[in-house]
Amino acid sequence: MGAGNLRAKPRSISITSGKGGTGKTTLTANLGVALGSLGKKVIILDGDLAMANLGIVMGLTKCETNFFDVLSGKADVGEALYTNYGIKVLPCGFRFEDVHDVLSKVKRERVEEVINELLKQTEFLLIDAAAGIADATIISIAAAREMLPVCNPTYTSLVDCYKTVRLANVLGSWTRGLVVNRTGKKADLSLDEVEQFMGRTLGAMPVLADIPEDPKVQEAERECVPVVVYEPECSASIAINELAKVIVGERDLPYVPYEERAVKETTSRLVRALTGRRA
Ligand SMILES: Nc1ncnc2c1ncn2[C@@H]1O[C@H](COP(=O)(O)OP(=O)(O)OP(=O)(O)O)[C@@H](O)[C@H]1O
Ligand SMILES: [Mg+2]
Repeated sequence: MGAGNLRAKPRSISITSGKGGTGKTTLTANLGVALGSLGKKVIILDGDLAMANLGIVMGLTKCETNFFDVLSGKADVGEALYTNYGIKVLPCGFRFEDVHDVLSKVKRERVEEVINELLKQTEFLLIDAAAGIADATIISIAAAREMLPVCNPTYTSLVDCYKTVRLANVLGSWTRGLVVNRTGKKADLSLDEVEQFMGRTLGAMPVLADIPEDPKVQEAERECVPVVVYEPECSASIAINELAKVIVGERDLPYVPYEERAVKETTSRLVRALTGRRA
C-alpha cells in the first residue's frame, strides 16, 4: 500500500451538555462547517433523537430518509446522508410516533454498526447529543471516542457539565476540554473561574473556546443557515473557526490550562458539595 492510501484515523466527537439549550446543536453544525472549510471530511449526526433539529439549522427542512429509518433498518446510511455547506448531515426525523417507536426499540448493536459505517466515510464525525444523561445521551456519548461539552458561564451550567464529563469517563470517552458559549454578560463567571472550578472537580479541564453572545447566531438560525456561512466575520463565527483549528491541532489552546489560584468562596462550597474534598 502506498503512503497516499494511508488514512488518518477518523475522530468521533459527541457534543454534549448537562443543561438544555447551551448551544450544542448550533456548535455541532457550525464546528462541522468550520472543519469542512479547513479541508476535512465531516459528517454531523443528529443524536438528539427526541428533540431533533440539526437538519433545520443546516438548512435541510425536507429529508425523506433520516436516522430513524437507518436505526430501524429501513434504509442504509448512504440514503440518509445529505450534503450542505460542504459537509454531510445525517438528520433525525421529528414525527412523534417515530420518536417513540425508535427509542423503545433501538438496539446498541445497530447504533454501533451505523457509527462504524459513518467512520469509514469520514475524517470527523460530530454527534449532536441530547441534553442530560438519559438513554439517548448515553448512546451518543458512548458512540464517540471524544466528548466536547458546551456550557454557559454560570455555576448551574458548570455543575451539570461536570456530571456529563463524569458520565463520559465512566463510558470510556475522552474529554480534552470544554466550550463556554454565550459569554460576555456582566454577571457571567470569568473563564478563569470556569477553569478553576473544572480543575478543582475534575483535575485539569481547559476552556478550548469562548464563544460570545452574538445576535448573528439567532439571525442565522432564523434563515436556516449556519452562522459561520451567514456572517463569517461576526464574533461567534471567529471563535468557532478558531476552535476548529484547535480541534485539528493547527492551533495551540487559546488559554493556559488551569493553575493553582485563590479559590472563591462559591467555588469552594460547590467543589466540596460535589467531591467531598476541601477546595
Ligand atoms: N453564542 C450565541 N449567541 C447567541 N445565541 C446563541 C448562541 N449560541 C446559541 N444561541 C441560541 O441559543 C438557542 C439554543 O441553542 P441550541 O439549540 O444550539 O442549544 P442546544 O444545546 O442544542 O439545545 P437543546 O438542549 O434544546 O438541544 C438557539 O436559539 C441559538 O440560536
Ligand atoms: Mg439541540
